[in-house]
Amino acid sequence: AAAEKGGWTSFMAKEISEQPDAVANTIRARIGADGLVHVPELEGLDELFRDISRVVVVACGTASYAGMVGKYAIEAWTRLPVEVALSHEFRYSDPVVDSSTLVVSISQSGETMDTLMAVKYAAERGAKTLSICNTQGATIPRESDAVVYTHAGPEVAVASTKAFVAQITALYLLGLHVAHVRGSLTSEQISDNTAELQAIPAKIAEVLTQHDEVAQLARWMSDTRSVLFLGRNVGYPISLEGALKLKELAYIHAEGFAAGELKHGPIALIEPGQPVFVVVPSPRGSQTMHSKVVSNIQEIRARGARVIAIAEEGDVAVLPYADTVVRVPLAAPLFEPLLCVVPTQIFAMELASAKGLDVDQPRNLAKSVTVE
Ligand code: G6P
Repeated sequence: AAAEKGGWTSFMAKEISEQPDAVANTIRARIGADGLVHVPELEGLDELFRDISRVVVVACGTASYAGMVGKYAIEAWTRLPVEVALSHEFRYSDPVVDSSTLVVSISQSGETMDTLMAVKYAAERGAKTLSICNTQGATIPRESDAVVYTHAGPEVAVASTKAFVAQITALYLLGLHVAHVRGSLTSEQISDNTAELQAIPAKIAEVLTQHDEVAQLARWMSDTRSVLFLGRNVGYPISLEGALKLKELAYIHAEGFAAGELKHGPIALIEPGQPVFVVVPSPRGSQTMHSKVVSNIQEIRARGARVIAIAEEGDVAVLPYADTVVRVPLAAPLFEPLLCVVPTQIFAMELASAKGLDVDQPRNLAKSVTVE
């Protein structure tokens, strides 16, 4: 087992470090010299992509948060409405699906029973089904009309990390391809985006160089009993994922909120010393959104919160109010989740390790849940 971990202390540590490759391998040979997306599995589906009027993503756990990130990107690029549903909720809610709906399932294992049942249900209702999956030949891709495999490599740790970034990457490829087919983006806009995506692996590698600083922070905070996460837009699913990782690995109460919701309830939770991670959106995306999140930080700081900001390089607006700033390299705003999630994964893993917990095999959890 030690050899399989390739010198890392856990599979999770190894898999976190493999994230540049997970993204690089998922886009490899799928972006042409023309800057457009060429995924062999999607060729021949032009008519389908032209005919659909909406997209519903079904998934569970971490995969559902990948779906939420994908929603922002696919809607921005294709102008198709995208809904993200938890597989088990979808199946029993008499969902509105018909032959003009594309149901995109996301599953690392391809065996999650809830998601499989959602896909079968959608197909029975006449929807077209597309699977994003990390496991060749698994049941969900076999039951779907089309599949885009993520190439994250085998993920052993129960809590998902590299599969998550690969899932988001596959959703970007899908969104850009559908935008091309539907003509909602110009070829130039698409190639600008694919160029951004191709630059992401090196940027994730840069974030990974801050492992020791984040680990140090996690050790200092190892007796923390509750951690909150705030994010907005594509940072919102990252706040949910950061909180999920802490629950899964460190068994502490953690919750992610949309930053704009703060004043509608969560701010009541803030008391002196409360740690809050804030995923700060790039001011290059929306200056307004950026300043709103900075004022959220001021509000919680004024109530004594201990603020850990995840912010892009050069964003000085956060400096006066954050106790700690974790930097991520500049990226196009829709791609930032691939960078911002990394410190939250490292933090959860290191906090769990500091508590002496098994980060690869958390209690009560299974890698793949094959029962409903
Ligand atoms: C389990 C795992 C999670 C995972 C979820 C969905 O609950 O513990 O890490 O996100 O299943 O798994 P899937 O294989 O469908 O992506």
